[in-house]
Amino acid sequence: MKLKIAVLSGDGVGPEVTEQAVKALDAVAEYFSHDFSFHEALVGATAIHKTGSPLPKKTIDTCKNCDTILFGAIGDPAFDNDPNTKVYPEQGLLNLRKELELFENIRPVIVYNYLLNNSPLKPENARGTNILIYRELTAGIFFGSKGTSDDGLSAFDACTYTAEEIERIAHNAFKAAQGRKKKLTLVDKSNVLETSRLWRRTVISMSKQYPDVTVELMYVDQAAAKIILNPKSFDVILTANLIGDFISEEASALVGSKGIMASASLGEKYSLFEPIHGSYPVATNKGIANPIGAILSAAMLLDHFDLSTEANAIKGAVTKAMELNLTTPDLNKQKPLSTEKIGDFIADYICNPDLTNFNIENIYLGQSTII
Ligand code: IPM
Ligand code: MN
Repeated sequence: MKLKIAVLSGDGVGPEVTEQAVKALDAVAEYFSHDFSFHEALVGATAIHKTGSPLPKKTIDTCKNCDTILFGAIGDPAFDNDPNTKVYPEQGLLNLRKELELFENIRPVIVYNYLLNNSPLKPENARGTNILIYRELTAGIFFGSKGTSDDGLSAFDACTYTAEEIERIAHNAFKAAQGRKKKLTLVDKSNVLETSRLWRRTVISMSKQYPDVTVELMYVDQAAAKIILNPKSFDVILTANLIGDFISEEASALVGSKGIMASASLGEKYSLFEPIHGSYPVATNKGIANPIGAILSAAMLLDHFDLSTEANAIKGAVTKAMELNLTTPDLNKQKPLSTEKIGDFIADYICNPDLTNFNIENIYLGQSTII
């Protein structure tokens, strides 16, 4: 398959983790004879420094001219500390989601057996956790009207949803549940919020079209606790933009490291794949950022284009790295590997999947994994 992939590596550790995802995709292209080309474009603080805008027009054009987008990370503390700044890096990502109408964000939360001891939960509670979060991404409070009074003493952010905005993501969440354990949990705050009541009405009335899916309705405060107490009770979670931001970040803590969480942001026409972690500024260029979230996002990209054998090749290589304890310091304090060496190992393994004997010392030395 021929795929043009826009690469928006962004800020902080974004470029180094994205480089490893590109390496994995290059390995897939080589092993499975595909033609993947990569087209870099600026976004975030890096783009502000070079062009004045967090999302230059050229970047939007590159994204629209490609088949899909690989995204790194965004954010720079220099902007966080200046409340008066008019432009900030996050606008790059938010505006891109809106511009490309990437209305749903899918975040798998999978606890790997190899990482059970890294989870803050007791192994017996964490084991087997496999949740798929559907977070609405282009509406709600993130995109409502907002403002601050002239005296600076009051501010507001409006939250709006239409039934249509809820239905389009809900259909996909129902379909995903049908292919899994057939359970859909709508997480909302419908005991207080009008928009949440609309989510409930809409999802309840849609549920008649999906009689095989059990719908569970849960307030977000209750869900926040249940994700920690009994994560295995969830299958597919469907929720609004802000709630999904919080809930998915909370869930990411269960898996042992936020650095391994991947995501897909999808719309009718465009698609974008990114690790859920941020730009992790203090780690920039230290080779300590975990590239697995970015690499698994590349696997989600392949799955999106129905290249499931290829996606599985990446997932298999990632699992192998975990099995051999070849991981970055967030998961392995004793003998960590660098961001780049993890990427090298995974790319090598994709091209040599039958390998059973590993010379682990060679991997640490940055030499071939093949004895
Ligand atoms: C995320 C991030 C973004 C969000 C920020 C960077 C705007 O936290 O993708 O979860 O809140 O959506
Ligand atoms: Mn977030």
